[in-house]
Formats: sequence, structure tokens, C-alpha cells
Amino acid sequence: MAIPLSFFLLLFPLLAPTFVLSSPVQDPEQVVQQVNESIRNATMARRSLGFLSCGTGNPIDDCWRCDHHWEKNRQKLADCAIGFGKHAIGGRDGKIYVVTDPSDHDPVNPKPGTLRYAVIQDEPLWIIFARDMTIKLKEELLMNSFKTIDGRGVSVHISGGPCITVQYVTNIIIHGINIHDCKRGGNAYVRDSPTHYGWRTISDGDGVSIFGGSHVWVDHCSLSNCNDGLIDAIHGSTAITISNNYLTHHNKVMLLGHSDTYKQDKNMQVTIAFNHFGEGLVQRMPRCRHGYFHVVNNDYTHWEMYAIGGSADPTINSQGNRFLAPNDADNKEVYTIISLIGSNIETGGGGGERG
Ligand SMILES: *[C@@H]1O[C@H](CO)[C@@H](O)[C@H](O)[C@H]1NC(C)=O
Ligand SMILES: *[C@@H]1O[C@H](CO)[C@@H](O)[C@H](O)[C@H]1NC(C)=O
Repeated sequence: MAIPLSFFLLLFPLLAPTFVLSSPVQDPEQVVQQVNESIRNATMARRSLGFLSCGTGNPIDDCWRCDHHWEKNRQKLADCAIGFGKHAIGGRDGKIYVVTDPSDHDPVNPKPGTLRYAVIQDEPLWIIFARDMTIKLKEELLMNSFKTIDGRGVSVHISGGPCITVQYVTNIIIHGINIHDCKRGGNAYVRDSPTHYGWRTISDGDGVSIFGGSHVWVDHCSLSNCNDGLIDAIHGSTAITISNNYLTHHNKVMLLGHSDTYKQDKNMQVTIAFNHFGEGLVQRMPRCRHGYFHVVNNDYTHWEMYAIGGSADPTINSQGNRFLAPNDADNKEVYTIISLIGSNIETGGGGGERG
């Protein structure tokens, strides 16, 4: 098969991840303290204002939901993140783009009005949806930098086909999307910018695959039942916050760091906050390698093998998570050899661990 010229011309930037990779913050504990402070502030605001407060104590939600006109100020959401992905601005400084067409017939020449047409653009865009819709993608959705996918106010499902890929791009926000039943894609051409498309080999079939991505924030999504991971971040990805998501019905939930030998993942810094790890989950909530992982205020109500695990000397800072162990003695063990956490039944706080 003839390979288009543009494939060669533009391959180089794709293979130069240092171009977009951000360096890790020097003092991750400082980011942890900031998260602590914003949670404390939100909790105090709620307590002191009582019924006058719209607050829930969740600093991310209170940041935008307390604005009755949030629909008119959608881009303010970009300033509501906490943790390592806090500086992901997505399409904050760009135009609003309204998706009107759920189809995805041609991944190389996407039609205006489709989600794929929006995410590949070079300019920043804040992408919203005209109505409820289910989008069955034909191939992976390759996002370009500075994009927000904002499903607030409508019910949007990305399901039944390949799902979202954040590869060597930066400043991505994905909010309020139902991502499920994701399948493998590949052995196909897919466009990733107005001027470039390339050949994709078979993909894993993740819900959200972050590969060499930075400044990424995934918030308020529901994720379930995908072919590989629900959210995986590998290959030098960093500056990520995964918050307020509802994850269910899946085996390998969240892989952060692909292999023990891939040392670049030492720079990986991820905040996992306010997620509900719910029914039908088996393992990897998350499974961490090399980097620094702040796992804070999550609710674990189901795991069949283990909840939090790590290898290759990760730092896993686990605070304020609630573990409601299934009624099976094995699930209540703390395994120290490779740092599996999943035992503190209804812990209020603490449970910190250094691997
Ligand atoms: C957050 O900060 C408060 C006050 O400084 C401290 O008492 C608490 O232990 C901290 N919590 C965590 C989870 O670090
Ligand atoms: C918490 O509140 C204090 C006092 O209003 C403020 O100075 C500080 O910046 C807030 N911290 C965070 C992380 O929001």
C-alpha cells in the first residue's frame, strides 16, 4: 500500500516526545499539600456556611457547580482541577465547538460537526454536544493538544468501538463522558491533525489511553468494560489528575507505567482523587510504576484481587481513602512485598505508604 508523503514529513514531530513532555515538579509533596489545603478549604466553606452553602466539600465540584450560570461559563472548569494535572487548561482559551453529528464514517477525512473533526484541530477548542448522543468510533480518537471534551448537560456515550487516545499531546480535559465497551482499533489510517494522518497498528482497546501525554485531567467520567485498561498512562506521561470518576465492571482498571524497565516513567506524577471504584472491579486501582502517585479520598467498594498495587519503586501516597472490603478474608490483607493496599476497612485517613 502506498504511504502518503505527509506520513514521512510529519513523523518526526510524532517521534519527538520531549517536545511536549513536561518535567516533573521538583517537590511533589508540595502539590500534595495544596490538594490537602483545597480539600480542607472546601470542607470548611461547607461547614461554616451551612445551608447557605452550595458546597459539597469536594473542591473540584464546588469550584464550578456553585455558579448557577455554569453553562454560560463553561471554560471556568479549566481552573478547577487539583493535583498534578491542575495546570491542564484544555481548550480554555479557544472557541466553543458544538458536536452535532455522532457519526464517524471516515477517520482520515472526518466530517465537520463530528467529535473527531473537533479533536484533531490545531487551535484550542472547548468541545460540547448539541444533544444526547452515543458515538461509536470507527478507530481510536486521536486527540490534538489544547482540547476539552465537555459532556455537562447532556448524556454522551463513547462506546462500542475504539475510544480515546492522548498520544504525545498536552493540555487535555475530558469531563462528563460515559466511556464503555471500548474495543481494539487499528491497522488503519487515522487523522490526528488537519495536516497529518498516519497508520495505526492494533490498539489495546483502553477507555482512555495516555501515551507520552502531559497535563491531562479526566474528571466525572463513567468508565466500564473495556478491552484493556479503563485509563492507562504510560510511556513518559505525567502531570495527570484522574478525579470524580465512576469505574465499574472491569478487570485491569488503571495501569500507570507500562514496564519496570521503562525508566522515563520516573517522571510520572499522577493524582487519583474522589473516584468511586465500584462493582465488578478486579485489580489495578491503580497499579503504579516508578513515579509519584497521590491516591486521595477515593471510595473503594469492590475489588476481587487487590486495590492499589505497585512495582519498580513507585511512591504511592495514599490518604483518606475508604476501603469497604468484600466479604472475603483475602481481600482484607495488606501485602507488603509489592505494596498492595486494599485492606484498611473504612479508614478515615492515613494509610500512607512508601514503596
Ligand atoms: C492535611 O493538613 C492537616 C492540617 O495541616 C493535617 O492535620 C492533615 O493530617 C493533613 N492531611 C493529610 C491527608 O495530609
Ligand atoms: C485556602 O484558603 C485560603 C484562605 O482563603 C487561601 O489563601 C488559599 O489559597 C486556599 N488554598 C487553596 C489551595 O485553595
